Amino acid sequence: MSSRRTIILGVESSCDETACAVVADGREVLSNAVATQIDLHRRFGGVVPEVASRAHIEAIGPVLDEALAAAGVAADRIDAVAVTSEPGLVGSLLVGLMAAKTLAWVWGKPLIAVNHVHAHVYSPAVDGEPIAYPAVGLVISGGHTALYAARSPVDVALLGQTIDDAAGEAFDKVAAILQLGYPGGPVIDRAARGGDPKAVRLPRTLLAADSLDFSFSGLKTAVLYHVNGVPNANLSPEAIAAKGPGYGKGAEALSEQEVADIAAGFQSVVADVLAVKVRRAVKRVRPRSIVVGGGVAANSAIRARLTAEAARLGVALRLPPMKYCTDNAAMIAAVGYHLLRAGRTAGLDLEATPTMRP
Ligand code: KG4
Ligand code: ZN
Repeated sequence: MSSRRTIILGVESSCDETACAVVADGREVLSNAVATQIDLHRRFGGVVPEVASRAHIEAIGPVLDEALAAAGVAADRIDAVAVTSEPGLVGSLLVGLMAAKTLAWVWGKPLIAVNHVHAHVYSPAVDGEPIAYPAVGLVISGGHTALYAARSPVDVALLGQTIDDAAGEAFDKVAAILQLGYPGGPVIDRAARGGDPKAVRLPRTLLAADSLDFSFSGLKTAVLYHVNGVPNANLSPEAIAAKGPGYGKGAEALSEQEVADIAAGFQSVVADVLAVKVRRAVKRVRPRSIVVGGGVAANSAIRARLTAEAARLGVALRLPPMKYCTDNAAMIAAVGYHLLRAGRTAGLDLEATPTMRP
């Protein structure tokens, strides 16, 4: 039997991370280089597309060099170049796409188009055990909130997605309302420690009884109204007290405990909604595993809630380590390996597709 490994270079630039990675046989990570732009976008409170594209252009060369050098493989050992072609910010996607096409052309190797959100669904298998299929995939990130039914690494069908804000976007906006800084996920997670998740009543939006879609904008607005008060609502002191800690005080006047209570309440509602939707998807798909990916999967309350829910459902839960939760190119190269084996290569006329497709 030949021991020659299939080595894929992955390239990722769909949002605010420029990343390149070298992965053998779809699982073994030889290198995983990531340049994040978080500091660049902090002063704007969110990712600014124009700023992101420019930063990708500056970072892509050095990140590529770093990934190749750290992997210790010569360029002629790379069997194919896998690149995120969808979904994402179009100007950002184009930078990685152009780099990957150039390399594939110069090296005379196949180009492979990878769906970024499908790659998140595969991320627990990167440097880990294979995923047991069929699987329910939950992707919760700054840009996406989506549920999938996966039959293999390359057969991934969309079951539902957010109809407004992504989960991570809601974290970022609630952190902005509470004046806690950016990105919101980690600061809310920290602020919520010691908070009472039941002190402030916030809405759980579950949509229709069988819906696998998500909506987080109502929750975000509810936090906004709780902190700043409902406009023109002339509430009695009793009604204000019933709203819970910190109602209408404005972010500056909130005590640490009030911030903790609001953050904990918000976080627990998001965790609850995610758990309910996962339960619905499990009933529909009857999977052997539940797979979670995306930066919001780092959240301690969400991890705990999903762990408990999976145990109750009797389905194995796969949560990747943090470096594979957030955007990275190892997951792109890993899915690229499976696409290559399935013969699904792309032409050099491959285009960037910014939108989510089924
Ligand atoms: O996957 P990711 O790096 O980027 C996208 O593909 O969008 O996710 C970034 C998101 C941000 O919204 C950030 O606030 C959130 O992940 N995040 C968290 C935590 N750490 C990062 N959200 C909740 N709790 C956390 N501990
Ligand atoms: Zn992502």
